[in-house]
Amino acid sequence: MKRVFSGIQPSGTPHIGNYLGAIKNWAAIQEEYDCIYCVVDLHAITVYQKPDILRQKTIDAIKIILAAGIDPEKSIVFVQSHIKEHSELAWILNTITPIGELERMTQFKDKAKNQKAGVSAGLLDYPVLMAADILLYNTDAVPVGEDQRQHVELSRVIARKFNNLYGETFKEPAELIRKEGARIMSLTDPTKKMSKSDEDKFGCIDLTDSPDLIREKIKKAVTDSGKEIISRPDKPAVSNLLTIYSLFSNQPIKEIETKYENKTYVEFKEGLAQVVIEGLALFQEKYAELDKNPEYVLKVIKEGADKARNLAESKMKEVKEKMGLV
Ligand code: AMP
Ligand code: TRP
Repeated sequence: MKRVFSGIQPSGTPHIGNYLGAIKNWAAIQEEYDCIYCVVDLHAITVYQKPDILRQKTIDAIKIILAAGIDPEKSIVFVQSHIKEHSELAWILNTITPIGELERMTQFKDKAKNQKAGVSAGLLDYPVLMAADILLYNTDAVPVGEDQRQHVELSRVIARKFNNLYGETFKEPAELIRKEGARIMSLTDPTKKMSKSDEDKFGCIDLTDSPDLIREKIKKAVTDSGKEIISRPDKPAVSNLLTIYSLFSNQPIKEIETKYENKTYVEFKEGLAQVVIEGLALFQEKYAELDKNPEYVLKVIKEGADKARNLAESKMKEVKEKMGLV
């Protein structure tokens, strides 16, 4: 089976953009691929994190992965910092990555703008650590949202460069980006992607929001001028809501448009809230169960690390031998 690797940061609160753009798909492809899913705490600290909160969010992120239906018997689920080879390989890859490539990354440019206390080397280096995550496990495919495409492309550039210098060592990974849901937009500003770091809490629907809060957020969501419920470039807000509706209900957008022809935005939003609440119900039920069972979650984390470590150690050995680091 082909190998899949992906990661999620334990910062902020995961929202339906993370779910529809990434994690829901992670669960769906478990039968088809040999999957490894990682909570990337070393990526999260490129922006300051309070230690106690980071510790809790890391465990919460594992719970989110499990609640989304990822089965730790089938897939490897682990925490990045538990496997020292990620940092070790990142250093090695640093030595062959041109700074210019890192400076042109869109996410770096965006985040650097917001970092008031000066930009850390870690923030610039973030995509190299991501390349290390991916390349350590001979990954074939990386399921991510559209915002990560550039980083996966760079990991191919880095793999190729290493292979040219030291001999065939790394596979070149492909991004696995679904068309629908790759970019869920903010409910209050459809020109911005739904983001964990959004200050406006009405922009995101978090995965653990109660039904009442979901209804309230959808009621407050912005709509476009006109009143048709249709997916079209000049109706970015309604198009985004239709995408969310479609992904949670598994109905094609065309069918939803027909269903709400001649209906009002208010009626559409009521329907949408219902679909989102139902779409998250099973996830939320499983999440609540995991909340009551912290020993189980810790056991999954430990066993995941043991499995990942085996693979990572053997790849690092090969890398070091090829480079003369023995
Ligand atoms: P992050 O929140 O940055 O750790 O992202 C975790 C995963 O969710 C990555 O695969 C992202 O590409 C994906 N993702 C984040 N925000 C969105 C969004 N608004 N729409 C779709 N996918 C997203
Ligand atoms: N940078 C990714 C994000 O913010 C998270 C990530 C880290 C990742 N390492 C990865 C995703 C490896 C896929 C593969 O979403």
